[in-house]
Order: sequence, then C-alpha cells, then structure tokens
Amino acid sequence: MHLLHTLTVLAMTTLITATYNSTALPTEDIFYIGTGNDTLHTAGFDPLTGDSRLLSTVSGVGQASWQQLSHSGKTLYSIDEAGARFEVFSISSDGSLKRKQELPTITGAVSIAVSGDDKEIFLAHYMGNAVTYLTVDEGGNVTMAKNWTFTAPPGPKMPNQDKPHPHQVLYDPSGKWVIVPDLGADLIRVFTSTGEVDQLKMEPGSGPRHGVFHDGYYYLVSELVSTVTVFKVETTEKKFGLKKLQTIPTLPDEMRNTAAAAEILVTDDGRFVYVSNRLEKMFKDGNAITGFSRNETGLLAPMSPQQYFPSMVQTPRHVSLWPRKGQGYFVAEGQDGGGVVVFKRDAKGGAILNAESSLQVTQPMCVTWRPKGEAKAGKKEGKRRARRGM
Ligand SMILES: *[C@@H]1O[C@H](CO)[C@@H](O)[C@H](O)[C@H]1NC(C)=O
Ligand SMILES: *[C@@H]1O[C@H](CO)[C@@H](O)[C@H](O)[C@H]1NC(C)=O
Ligand SMILES: *[C@@H]1O[C@H](CO)[C@@H](O)[C@H](O)[C@H]1NC(C)=O
Ligand SMILES: *[C@@H]1O[C@H](CO)[C@@H](O)[C@H](O)[C@H]1NC(C)=O
Ligand SMILES: *[C@@H]1O[C@H](CO)[C@@H](O)[C@H](O)[C@H]1NC(C)=O
Repeated sequence: MHLLHTLTVLAMTTLITATYNSTALPTEDIFYIGTGNDTLHTAGFDPLTGDSRLLSTVSGVGQASWQQLSHSGKTLYSIDEAGARFEVFSISSDGSLKRKQELPTITGAVSIAVSGDDKEIFLAHYMGNAVTYLTVDEGGNVTMAKNWTFTAPPGPKMPNQDKPHPHQVLYDPSGKWVIVPDLGADLIRVFTSTGEVDQLKMEPGSGPRHGVFHDGYYYLVSELVSTVTVFKVETTEKKFGLKKLQTIPTLPDEMRNTAAAAEILVTDDGRFVYVSNRLEKMFKDGNAITGFSRNETGLLAPMSPQQYFPSMVQTPRHVSLWPRKGQGYFVAEGQDGGGVVVFKRDAKGGAILNAESSLQVTQPMCVTWRPKGEAKAGKKEGKRRARRGM
C-alpha cells in the first residue's frame, strides 16, 4: 500500500515535470492553488480533455489558506494563516501572478470576502478570533481600516470551542451584510463596515463553519456535528434574517462524532449540494464527499442512487466546481495528501464520476477559478459572481 502510493506519487511528479509549461493553451481555463507549504500555483485546465497542469508558481506566501478573485478578475487576494499576512497579486493575461502589496494582519486568517464593487474586503481570523475590514482605493491600493476581536466563554465542544473562531466571511446576495459563521461561539455574526450589527444563535456545540447562498436560501455546514442546515432568507431593508427549515446529516450517525465536515457547494442550476468531510473513514481512497439533491422548495434529500463518493485525497478542507455552464467537473484538494484531483461530474444525476487528472502539490488548501476571459469580460461576470455570493 505504502509502496504503491510512493510509486503513484513518483509517477505524478514525473508527469508534472514533463508537462510543466508557463503558457496556457488557448482551450485552457486557469485556476489557482494555495498551499500550506509556502506556494501559490497557477494551473491550467483543459475542459476538452480533463487534463490539468502547473503553469507557474509564486512562493513566500506562507500558509495560503484562502484566495479570492476581485470581481474585475484583475486581482487575486491571498492570506497567510500562520504568518498573519494579507497579499495582493495582479493577474497577467497568461494567468501568472505578480506581487503588488503585502499587509500585516491579525493571525489565523482563513477567509476573504470582496464587495461587489471591489472597494471593500473582509477577513475572518479563526485563531485570532477576529474580523478585519479593509478598503481599496481607485488605484487598487488596499488599506487596513478596522478590526474587531471577540471574546466568549468556552463552548460545550472542547478543544475546538475554547474561544470564538470566525471561519468565513461572505457577502449576502443583497451585498449589504457580511455573514460570519463562528465555530467557537455557535453563532452567525452579521457585519457591515460599521461592525457587528446582529447575531443569530446556532445549536450549542454545532460549530458553524461555512455557508453558501442560493436563490433565497442559505445552506450552513456545521463542522462539529457534520450537518447542513437549510434556512430561508428572510431579509428586510433593515435586518438580515434567516428562518430554519431543515437540518440534514452529511454522514451516517456512527461517523459524525469524530468527523469534521468542511466545505459546501451548490451547483449553479440549484439541483445539487456537495459537502466535503474529514477524519471519517468511509472509503479507503480518501475522505467522503456527500451529495444532496435540491428542489425549488430549497430542501435537501440524500442524492440517489449514490450519496457518498471517495474524494481520493486526505482532508478535503476545500472542494470546488468548474465554473462554466453545466459544471461538468468537480475538484477535491487534499490538505493532508493526494494533491488536487479533478473528477468528471454527471450534471444531470449529480454523481461524481471518474478522476480525469491530478496535480501532486503539497498541502493544497484552496482552489480559485479564473473563468476564461474574465479579465476582459470584467463587469458582467463580476455582477454574476456577486449575485451568486462568490
Ligand atoms: C508549451 O506550450 C506551447 C504553446 O501552446 C507549446 O507550443 C509548447 O510545445 C509547450 N511546451 C511543452 C514543453 O509542453
Ligand atoms: C515544502 O516546500 C519546501 C521548499 O520549497 C520543500 O523543500 C519541501 O519539500 C516541501 N514539503 C513537501 C512535503 O513537499
Ligand atoms: C487592529 O485595530 C487596532 C485599532 O483598533 C489597531 O491598533 C491595530 O493595528 C489593528 N491591527 C491590525 C493587524 O490591523
Ligand atoms: C497604499 O496603502 C498603504 C497603507 O495600506 C500606504 O502606506 C501606501 O502609501 C499606499 N500606497 C499608495 C501608492 O497609495
Ligand atoms: C422537495 O424536496 C423535499 C425534500 O426531499 C421533499 O420533501 C418535497 O416533497 C420536494 N418537493 C417537490 C415539489 O418536489
């Protein structure tokens, strides 16, 4: 088993070296891979063949836990979770990155949100138990504006709930509020640039981690109980509101005590939801991805005939969907092994199918797509992404 794995790694390494090329092919899409080993890679993906390859790399980025594209498609923001840094890169036409600016932050940054007009940025700091607010001037120069640090008594699930742990910042579809699941305090915090304006209490010990909006609904993954909670968005002019409709487990009950659900995705057509799981051992070849089907009532049901799919990686902290029409590819990133694997996805039935290609990078933590032509498509694509709450 170990030998086989080593041989596979060697084979993949050779493959990457052989196809390493700094020029993207005309048919290729670009995606960025932030790693925990001081690298941020530009990769090419060819949807015609399913092939992926590394094009270029910048190093010195620390533990690159999250990246976010500006809506203009011209800038990539990156954070260093361990080293307490925020970095700004400009994107060249070939997708390569050029470092523009570097700012110190509070430690433990894990998530970035960019406002629809590209003028404001929020960060969530897990270890630093804080939220940061930054502003962007006309020339794209970023300034630290404000930060807020939280305190709270320990929650019921130790050691994870020793203190507040904001895990995500995400603009709501109106663009007015920034939604911040706090894993340590069992809260959804609601922010504007003036600070925290509201709190929604979640189940004690549930550990809210990441959410996603779709078409009037909000889907929240709670890491410490491995569930998805479905809410109807009931927002007025003055107040962000959620009404709870359903809670559904991401794993069989006997696995949920020790597992740690991570990322959640809704397909653009609203028909499927995927959640990545960690620490559970459902499959030999990597942690499980859970599939749900969704209908116009917003509610979820286990995907059938198959609900669980092997990710072929260890610790898929982040997963992603190829952003183009049909979203016929699914990507899993193994923070603790297995690199980045690109799977074919059955857009009609929702199943995750065969692995088409993989990149053997160390500790991948986040994949961010730059849809083809986005830098030129500019405003239109930016508006579409803002609506989807990306
Ligand atoms: C790199 O890409 C260019 C442009 O598509 C191509 O002509 C060239 O053969 C490639 N080189 C390698 C080593 O793949
Ligand atoms: C992490 O990066 C360093 C420096 O590039 C490299 O020497 C090391 O092999 C990498 N670690 C792993 C596990 O690949
Ligand atoms: C956080 O805000 C305080 C003022 O409230 C400021 O002194 C400090 O420099 C800020 N920290 C960072 C890392 O921006
Ligand atoms: C960019 O902003 C920083 C503060 O974040 C400031 O020190 C610097 O002078 C600004 N640079 C430009 C070119 O405006
Ligand atoms: C939508 O899905 C939910 C959950 O599976 C189910 O209870 C409901 O009947 C479905 N509604 C329609 C209109 O299909």
